[in-house]
Amino acid sequence: MGPTIFRSPTARNTFVFCVFLGLIFHFRLWNLYPSDDVVEPVHVPATGVSHGGGGGGGAVVVGGGNGDPVHLEPQHQPSHTAQSSKPEQEQQQEQKPVPEPFPKKIWYKLGPKGLSNYAKTWTDSCINQNPEYSVNFMTDETADAFVNEHFTAYPDVLAVYNALTIPILKADMVRYMLLYVEGGVWFDLDASCEGVPIDEWVPAEHAADASLIVGWEFDGGYHFEFERQFVTWTVLAKRNVEHLLVVVRDIAASLRRLAEANSVDVAGLNMSMIADVIEATGPKRFHKSVVSNLEKSVAQPINWEDYHEILEPKMAGDVLILPGYSLAASYNAYEPEDQDRVGPSLVVHHYAGTWKNEKGGETKE
Ligand SMILES: *[C@@H]1O[C@H](CO)[C@@H](O)[C@H](O)[C@H]1NC(C)=O
Repeated sequence: MGPTIFRSPTARNTFVFCVFLGLIFHFRLWNLYPSDDVVEPVHVPATGVSHGGGGGGGAVVVGGGNGDPVHLEPQHQPSHTAQSSKPEQEQQQEQKPVPEPFPKKIWYKLGPKGLSNYAKTWTDSCINQNPEYSVNFMTDETADAFVNEHFTAYPDVLAVYNALTIPILKADMVRYMLLYVEGGVWFDLDASCEGVPIDEWVPAEHAADASLIVGWEFDGGYHFEFERQFVTWTVLAKRNVEHLLVVVRDIAASLRRLAEANSVDVAGLNMSMIADVIEATGPKRFHKSVVSNLEKSVAQPINWEDYHEILEPKMAGDVLILPGYSLAASYNAYEPEDQDRVGPSLVVHHYAGTWKNEKGGETKE
């Protein structure tokens, strides 16, 4: 038996603990691991405004809604865009950029008639369930001003946007433009939130790596061939996500081609030429552009089968794809044995689209 003192369990435990602390101190165990795998989003100091990943090469200068400049923070770059020209040692010594959080901003766009009573209820549900989020109701005027302020680096896009006379096409473009420049959450006016705060939508393990969050519209329970697409009534983005810029540029290019095919300029486009608005600027366009840019951005080809009938949010490159039940619960069905894995409905879309008329949306007169 050892010294008497170790017959007392408390004293023995204390001794063992002190030895343990001493060992930790001796080997400085906390320095064995890099300290930058912190997932907790932290704001990093502003370092000015530059933006090079946009494909257009232009710098986008960001301004807040109230005229205050918003500084672009160093972005968490997906590995494919990371610069590798620096010597490896130097790169390792540099601190990795802290992943940027999803901006706590909610974006809406009002038509000239403002909020209907129904829309007030739906928008209130999202606003009240996310008290920490700032809420922005854009109007035609503020949206136009925003686009003209922030897209000067993309004159082709700007020209198409300014020439368009069909409200739904502009509204579709504006959502991607707002999210591209400012990030945050876009909601259509006819989307309601169902009780789960936005901050809980993104599993913690994906918060750092995801830069765009989309949800399947039709995914589960269809026993025939169909084309999947992401919903556009709710989209979450960090700032400067290239996929969104690609969507905007693709829309501008396809509207220009459509105008040419109809022998009019973009201002002459009307609803009878836009056979399928949804194809032109809506969910299908969004889905196609995001997917094609995403496929270009990853090293390994994406097997989309792996993303079908998902029961949990799943990353594809830097895009987090939410299951059908998340944003479109009523359009997705799951097998009885999967029922206990079906998660909550986050958003319900009430299909009150005011653009389904020959003018393509509310007009002033
Ligand atoms: C669209 O424009 C074409 C050609 O200018 C015209 O024939 C057609 O009636 C217009 N349709 C609508 C819905 O205004």
